[in-house]
Amino acid sequence: MTHHATLQIAGHTLPSLGMGSWRLGQGRYSEQQEIFALHRGLDLGLRVIDTAEMYGDGKSETLIGKAIEDRRDQTYLVSKVYPWNATGGQLEASLDASLRRLRTDNLDLYLLHWQSGNDLQEVVTLMEAMKQKGKINAWGVSNFDLPAMQSLLQVDGGKHCAVNQVFYNLAGRGIEYDLAPWCAEHDITTMAYCPLGGAGSHLLELEEVKTLAAHYQVTPAALLLAWVIRQNKILAIPESGCVQHVEDNARALQLEISEQDCAQLTRYYPAPESAEPLEIR
Ligand SMILES: NC(=O)c1ccc[n+]([C@@H]2O[C@H](COP(=O)([O-])OP(=O)(O)OC[C@H]3O[C@@H](n4cnc5c(N)ncnc54)[C@H](OP(=O)(O)O)[C@@H]3O)[C@@H](O)[C@H]2O)c1
Repeated sequence: MTHHATLQIAGHTLPSLGMGSWRLGQGRYSEQQEIFALHRGLDLGLRVIDTAEMYGDGKSETLIGKAIEDRRDQTYLVSKVYPWNATGGQLEASLDASLRRLRTDNLDLYLLHWQSGNDLQEVVTLMEAMKQKGKINAWGVSNFDLPAMQSLLQVDGGKHCAVNQVFYNLAGRGIEYDLAPWCAEHDITTMAYCPLGGAGSHLLELEEVKTLAAHYQVTPAALLLAWVIRQNKILAIPESGCVQHVEDNARALQLEISEQDCAQLTRYYPAPESAEPLEIR
């Protein structure tokens, strides 16, 4: 092993590759297969598991709860609250429900899933209160563009935001222009969702991706993920309910793509030269 990509979230050193779960626990694969895939990922070092109360209306959290019951120590557990539940009357009840489904008494990281007219001061105060109670270790946001991040850091306690989770992949590089560097400067870790391009992604079929993957003797998915985490600045959370795919994906942790090959890969997907609106899924 030559290289094992890591980065920091709120003072924790973590592998730069974790696992998503948007469509887990909803019958795409059997429950047993999906739990096996999550276990294999944890064993291969994919410690971060990302979920949300939204995914399958709690079914994703329920499946993950079963999978990690005896592996809580191995897992860096992330969940998210709906914006309309991120209020004084609701946030703690939503968090408690997530904790029950996840069979744990605290989350490593709790994210505001997106912004929908939220009072950011209220959200931050609530998140900090949950930290004080020991129900979460850190909090962050998701789908925040640069102006939203700037407003967040204006409110009291806003600087404790640990993460912004956003859309990012080879064909969706908008955040490289300003959002990701700004977050890095403010010690806020960027998590990349849809790192393979999302379900049914055409990126896995691109000739340039397939050719370069063959050269490195990995699958197209592993190549795309190694590209996302190439600078140890972004944590990718690919989702898979299939053990073979999880094994493929984990190879990205050890894969270093040369500068020359990166340039070749991004020939048709250049870095942004001006600010772009944040893509949202
Ligand atoms: N914060 C947000 O608003 C937000 C939005 C979207 C997503 N997310 C999070 O980010 C995670 C990842 O995003 P995503 O699930 O939309 O997209 P993704 O991870 O880019 O792609 C997932 C798809 O790729 C397939 N796949 C995974 N590994 C593969 C491999 N090695 N070879 C071939 N196919 C493979 C999966 O199918 P198989 O299961 O069959 O492998 C699945 O259909 C989500 O699950 C969720 O946790 C967050």
